Amino acid sequence: MNKEKITMLTCYDALTAKIAQDAGIDYLLVGDSGGTNVLGYKSVNEVKLDDMLFLTKSVKRANTKCKIITDIPYEIVYEKPNETIFAAQKLIENGADMVKIELENGSVELLKKLTSANICVCSHIGYTPQTPNLKVSVQGKDVERAKELVKFAKISQEFGAKMIVLELIPANLAKYISDILDIPTIGIGAGQFCDGQVQVWCDISGFSDKIYRHSKLFANAKEQLLSAFREYASQVKNGNFPTDANSSFVCDEVLKNCF
Ligand code: KIV
Repeated sequence: MNKEKITMLTCYDALTAKIAQDAGIDYLLVGDSGGTNVLGYKSVNEVKLDDMLFLTKSVKRANTKCKIITDIPYEIVYEKPNETIFAAQKLIENGADMVKIELENGSVELLKKLTSANICVCSHIGYTPQTPNLKVSVQGKDVERAKELVKFAKISQEFGAKMIVLELIPANLAKYISDILDIPTIGIGAGQFCDGQVQVWCDISGFSDKIYRHSKLFANAKEQLLSAFREYASQVKNGNFPTDANSSFVCDEVLKNCF
């Protein structure tokens, strides 16, 4: 029997957390993509632990149903790896049910440390945005890289990860990985055979500048907001907003006596 697919969306604040919860999304990913999507950084590698705590707390406040997964940021993995356990514990204290770590050669030991400390971890393989100088491209197209990805997938499960994100991996390779693992695979640009899918909410709602091949436009919310904000500005300028219907008044007696 086909198992029900897992749904995951990125989420960075209380406003969208409530919407995602009401839509019945299973997991909210407080991804470090929030750094570029909502915090205004140029790169996800500028994101600090304090940023991830701020975003996680905001998502947690609005949400009681969805599980929350938070990224361990570049600052910790690449600059302060000795603080990985501390960082993960802080994220969990502040609302994360699980932390996510990108798995490249250097972070395999960090995964082991985290799971040995009983921290619930989701690993992330394939295109891993925190990896310095890694081109945005489909990973695992040649034998060497495909073998490496299969190795990282197996290590993830062996070292105790509870879930794994497969990003920009050929669909048939992602299927092979999904078939050999017991833990759920969550794909983004990894085809239809994964146990679930994750998307960046801004990409599927029309907020991103590009429509990515791995994504799909389910709404054009940015256009709607743009038109609402323009109409608001225009009505304020031409005096059509606010009207009496949007205002309250005191009686003349009060007005007379307050001068
Ligand atoms: O930060 C993020 O948005 C992610 C997803 C692309 C998986 O890690």
